[in-house]
Amino acid sequence: MKKILFVLVFIRLFLNASAQFPQPPVNQKQLIIETENTALVLSVANNHKLYQVYLGEKLKNSEDYKLLPTLHEAYIPSGTDNLFEPAIKMLHNDGNQSLELLFADEKVTTDGNLITTSILLKDPKYPVEVRLNFTAFQKENIIKTWTEIKHQEKKPVIISNFASSMLHLDADKYWLTQFHGDWAKEMRMEESQLTSGIKTIDSKLGTRANMYQTPVFFLAKNKPADENSGEVIAGTLGWTGSFQMLFEIDNSNSLRMISGINPFASEYHLNPNENFVTPEFLFTFSNMGKGQASRNFHSWARNYGVLDGNGSRLTLLNNWEATYFDFDESKLTELFGGAKELGVDLFLLDDGWFGNKYPRKDDRAGLGDWQETATKLPHGLGYLVEQAEAKGVKFGIWIEPEMVNPKSELYEKHPDWILKLPNRDEHYYRNQLVLDLTNPEVQEFVYKLVDDMLTKNPKISFIKWDCNRMMTNTYSAYLKDNQSHVQIEYVRSFYRVMERLRAKYPKLPIMLCSGGGGRTDYGALKYFTEFWPSDNTDAYERVFIQWGYSYFFPSITSCNHITSMGKQSLKFRTDVAMMGKMGYDIRVKEMTEAELKFSKEAVQNYNRLKDLIWKGDLYRLVSPYEEERAVLMYTSVDKSKSILFAYSLHPRAFGQFSPVRLMGLDANKNYRMEEINKMPNGRSRFMAEGKTFSGDYLMKIGLTLPNNSDLTSAVIEITEAK
Ligand code: DGJ
Repeated sequence: MKKILFVLVFIRLFLNASAQFPQPPVNQKQLIIETENTALVLSVANNHKLYQVYLGEKLKNSEDYKLLPTLHEAYIPSGTDNLFEPAIKMLHNDGNQSLELLFADEKVTTDGNLITTSILLKDPKYPVEVRLNFTAFQKENIIKTWTEIKHQEKKPVIISNFASSMLHLDADKYWLTQFHGDWAKEMRMEESQLTSGIKTIDSKLGTRANMYQTPVFFLAKNKPADENSGEVIAGTLGWTGSFQMLFEIDNSNSLRMISGINPFASEYHLNPNENFVTPEFLFTFSNMGKGQASRNFHSWARNYGVLDGNGSRLTLLNNWEATYFDFDESKLTELFGGAKELGVDLFLLDDGWFGNKYPRKDDRAGLGDWQETATKLPHGLGYLVEQAEAKGVKFGIWIEPEMVNPKSELYEKHPDWILKLPNRDEHYYRNQLVLDLTNPEVQEFVYKLVDDMLTKNPKISFIKWDCNRMMTNTYSAYLKDNQSHVQIEYVRSFYRVMERLRAKYPKLPIMLCSGGGGRTDYGALKYFTEFWPSDNTDAYERVFIQWGYSYFFPSITSCNHITSMGKQSLKFRTDVAMMGKMGYDIRVKEMTEAELKFSKEAVQNYNRLKDLIWKGDLYRLVSPYEEERAVLMYTSVDKSKSILFAYSLHPRAFGQFSPVRLMGLDANKNYRMEEINKMPNGRSRFMAEGKTFSGDYLMKIGLTLPNNSDLTSAVIEITEAK
């Protein structure tokens, strides 16, 4: 009897356990998404669900992927058996909140370097379709993924989660690197180990992606991310608005990463047959640390992500930090002369040139009234364009077309064009409000402002497009009952305007600016040639800020200006600006003779080497987060030429930095060293000046750099010696 009881108890326990730990579904069909080095493998199982079975270094034999278990559903819906954060959540017409996504179809198309896999999933009970798209950029090792959501229910369904991407990882430990800050404190890098539960990086700003958090991350497996070793995923979302990146470690220590538009305040009423297309999430996998991941992003961005990414850029002199709002025609003409003297290509007129009833003499008035202030610029923009041309420089102009000051004619004429709550006080940030770009009339206003200006002044060669505030106290008179669409519709409308402008002005360089670095994302960079990283132009701070951006954005996109903000020498400030797209925000008239001579030579050096800086492979050699210095270099693809930048920060007195091993050279080539950007009569302390070394020596032994005291710098030109 005892025996029978024992057997019964055992059977019961066994049945319980198998209910609790069901057998994993069996792989039936593999969908392999590969670049030259990376694989993301999905699999359809016998229960018809889609699973992610692998993400990492590509295997030699694709048959081996079949051995992997189906642990993680690829794009997990809400309301059925999921107990953790979902990728998608939907409320059906009948009040049911459940969604089940089963594999229906797959399509693969190849277009040279791009292979796109599109997977259709369908709910067996409701007419709902979800399409997961993946474009694998073979050479760049980047995967772009986005999702489309559609249904044929009778009335709109409500979607409240709509991820662009869901990815799964399995490791013992996960290290997340995020980049955060605030105005003038952009891109502060911080790494921490993830623990069980959810960590979210997000923003709720509406008109811009970043200010407090940037939509980029590194996720390193097992150990903190290194520059040159270890397995790391680098990801970013191409969306110029509120974003969310969520990392959740579950009960089995598996990690799910969900990226997309921030669901915050954005329940979306999806009409029957409307296709909801999410923004693109871009990621790369590197088993050689963050350095390789950055190089992948840089070449992808130049080839596909940034407008005219392989083209050229204009060097410029901007008047913002030189004059702020305090200028007139004669001051500007003097600055044109300064630009010419320096040898830069263009003069950029910043904020403060418009408004008559409410002249823009500070940031409290005039925004929205885009007519030249007659008392300040009596002869108008056309005259300035001509004057600049007569001095031998091109002319560019600042606008902030999405915004309005309450003290403006635009505000008086069109209060309904403004995002503001009808029943509460207006809430200002920089004394301004956001226009309701979701309204087609406002889109037309913004388009026409740019188009009319360019039609009237076809010689305007550059635009700086600013956006100095986020959404607060927001309500759209145009969207009426659909207030939860404001955040999403705003960004879509911004892109709509840019599409139209780019159809007419496909190549015009436009700088993307957002009160510092608030708009630095690949959603907008499709339409823009470059971005303004920060209003903090202190060269010491800039070493860190530009270093931060360099992880995800190529140097050709980063506008770095030499200004008077920092206390460093002109040489230090110039050398820091030179690591990206160099420009000036300075009064040339106030330079000493030696400073002017130095600057003119620096511009010439830059013109000679800018292609190498913009298009070379970046190697970050010494991080300012690890030592009191920063060293980086760019190397041409054929490895015949490099340029190295070294910045000493605040080292202890009498210290000596150790030699720096170079990277990316050809071990079999010989290279000659030359220090450039020296102050007139300045003696080079570079011991290797004029000497030749093998690439092997430089990469195994390294170079002793000349700058080792407080806030000093060196730029070394490295040329193959034949
Ligand atoms: C914020 C930008 O970041 C600055 O460079 C400058 O253009 C000001 N706006 C002008 O208001």
